[in-house]
Amino acid sequence: MDLYEYQAKDLFAAHGVPVLPGSVADTPDQARAVAEELGQTVVVKAQVKTGGRGKAGGVKLADDPADARTKAEAILGLDIKGHIVRRVLVTPASDIAEEYYFSFLLDRPNRTFLAMASAEGGIDIEQLAVERPEALAKVPVDAIVGVDLAKAREIVAAGKFPEAVADQAAEVVVKLWETFVAEDATLVEVNPLVRDPRDKVIALDGKVTLDDNAAFRHPGHADLVDVDAEDPLEAAAKAKDLNYVKLDGQVGIIGNGAGLVMSTLDVVAYAGEDLGGVRPANFLDIGGGASAEVMANGLEIILSDRDVRSVFVNVFGGITACDAVANGIVQAFQLLGSRGDAVTKPIVVRLDGNNADEGRRILTDAALPGLTQVDTMDNAARTAAELAAQGA
Ligand SMILES: Nc1ncnc2c1ncn2[C@@H]1O[C@H](COP(=O)(O)OP(=O)(O)O)[C@@H](O)[C@H]1O
Ligand SMILES: [Mg+2]
Repeated sequence: MDLYEYQAKDLFAAHGVPVLPGSVADTPDQARAVAEELGQTVVVKAQVKTGGRGKAGGVKLADDPADARTKAEAILGLDIKGHIVRRVLVTPASDIAEEYYFSFLLDRPNRTFLAMASAEGGIDIEQLAVERPEALAKVPVDAIVGVDLAKAREIVAAGKFPEAVADQAAEVVVKLWETFVAEDATLVEVNPLVRDPRDKVIALDGKVTLDDNAAFRHPGHADLVDVDAEDPLEAAAKAKDLNYVKLDGQVGIIGNGAGLVMSTLDVVAYAGEDLGGVRPANFLDIGGGASAEVMANGLEIILSDRDVRSVFVNVFGGITACDAVANGIVQAFQLLGSRGDAVTKPIVVRLDGNNADEGRRILTDAALPGLTQVDTMDNAARTAAELAAQGA
């Protein structure tokens, strides 16, 4: 999960990283009130989960509270790289003597953590890395050893931070490492880390990515989820422990096991090529040992997706035998019917593997409206794509 700047800086503050005060505002009037409270020149900053806000007009200086209101009005609603601004951070304007770059991240290819530091921060770091790679230090960090003050000094020196702020910057680096470890982050980035005219080092921007696999260790992180920005179906699936992913086509896909689901996406997209580009609308992996109840929940979520015009249920019976899956489908129809959400979209089912004959018989006997059984994966994919094309 990526965090907003204000959330990242809240975590920084909790771990002793120097940041400026400030509050978020959802309306121009709130922005004015925050500026009034701060009682000084402020910066109004778009809160969106993408970089380059400054260049896109999402970071503006405001001289007084009335001006903060005007600037917030201009920034709220802006589209920054496809992200609509719903909230701004109002924070004191800092005098800046120099801007540096600093980050800790998980370096997957090299199976280590990495510190990146540069005395030339503030600007687009990807560009610096390409144009002047020698200006961006990359220092591997051993997960067991971590970062103490000596290691932090080494990183700061490699980044060519000026001597006058080296000690302070090293202390900040240690605290950023503490943030990285304690919060189970995969990225902690500060761009810019600034030196103000009195040589104080402050994190003026913050980007943090938390490792969702460690969420169980951090009950507090649940509060950081932006429920408004979350896809409601993905949220509903997550609540039921289902792996659901939204895509942009028309065929809903349910399968058991990641490998089968991935190849189902391919065969549907392939079959859809001749039909004006019919593609998968989403996919849901009900897993290897899925129960009938899981099947019912999965079908409910897939059918709730407005973009879905047909559904392809592709199951290879293993631990979960096909008869259990067939019963799950029958139950799902009953469950949805009893809620007044009768299934109106065509469903194509391919059952193979453990107890396939029994599963097919259950579905044939149930004679569910709109449900077609097809024996092979390729034919079933074609049928599902055709039904989606007809429903267009
Ligand atoms: N509180 C602040 N005071 C003064 N200048 C700021 C402040 N916050 C940001 N800036 C300036 O705006 C630039 C862009 O802001 P930043 O927070 O880095 O957003 P982004 O990286 O999305 O463009 C910074 O490099 C800095 O020069
Ligand atoms: Mg920045």
